[in-house]
Amino acid sequence: MNKQIYTITENREIATETYRLVLSGEDTVQGEFVHLDIPGYYLRRPISVCEAGNGRLTLLYKTVGEGTRTLATLPEGTTVSVLTGLGKGFDADTCRHEALLVAGGLGAAPLYYLAKKLKDQGKKVTAILGFNKKEEAVLLPEFESLCDRFALTTVDGSAGIKGFVTDAIQALNPQYDYYYTCGPMIMMQKVCALLQGSGEASLEERMGCGAGFCYGCSIQTAHGPARVCKDGPVFKKEDILW
Ligand SMILES: Cc1cc2nc3c(=O)[nH]c(=O)nc-3n(C[C@H](O)[C@H](O)[C@H](O)COP(=O)(O)OP(=O)(O)OC[C@H]3O[C@@H](n4cnc5c(N)ncnc54)[C@H](O)[C@@H]3O)c2cc1C
Ligand code: FES
Repeated sequence: MNKQIYTITENREIATETYRLVLSGEDTVQGEFVHLDIPGYYLRRPISVCEAGNGRLTLLYKTVGEGTRTLATLPEGTTVSVLTGLGKGFDADTCRHEALLVAGGLGAAPLYYLAKKLKDQGKKVTAILGFNKKEEAVLLPEFESLCDRFALTTVDGSAGIKGFVTDAIQALNPQYDYYYTCGPMIMMQKVCALLQGSGEASLEERMGCGAGFCYGCSIQTAHGPARVCKDGPVFKKEDILW
């Protein structure tokens, strides 16, 4: 874990109540998520790494409560304290040739980070992204240009296939030897129940320290208690007690 001071170079609404935050600073080991210090709040906020490298760290966040709404007001040039190198992320090496990525909402952000790693390793990637409506969709051109196969679903049918990511899985019948999913718990549960074979899912839990010390994010797994921040947030499908 590293504590870094970053400077905001972009903090812009890119979809309904969804912001892209670009930070510049020294490159460090980024981990799966970072813990952001928002001025005026005692607890840091965990946000997944979407892109990292060349002194830039890109995060996507939704304004859901007071902390993220305050974050959205911070102008370019503001410095923020960030804990980096946190969390056990998706294991790109477990996939042999072809990966299936299934995201709901901003679960697309960490899966984009993973998709780049998989493509760097020469693997085929099919990505299915689901949103409530077109106005909430993010990272579409990025996934489309990176992935071998790509599908978008919206619940209201305003873009892509009308319905849920599970509908797209059934329609596409994608080839894969390993899958990765990130999004709302109920979505990931249905995805894991539908898909054959093994995969990984990224869980969310309210966090205190974000670094394994306070046990505030403990959950039960098939192997006993685990800390989402340190032992996860990514867990093997077989280990998750839905
Ligand atoms: C590993 C991980 C990765 C995440 N990645 C992203 C991301 O890429 N983009 C994004 O928009 N959101 C992400 N979240 C959720 C994000 O942390 C919460 O939406 C955010 O903390 C809400 O803060 P708030 O002050 O606006 O909300 P409030 O509800 O006012 O927050 C009150 C407290 O609850 C905590 N909290 C609230 N919701 C969550 C939540 N879902 N998970 C964990 N703590 C929460 C806050 O950190 C804070 O301590 C992630 C959460 C985790 C655990
Ligand atoms: S948040 Fe403190 S141990 Fe996970």
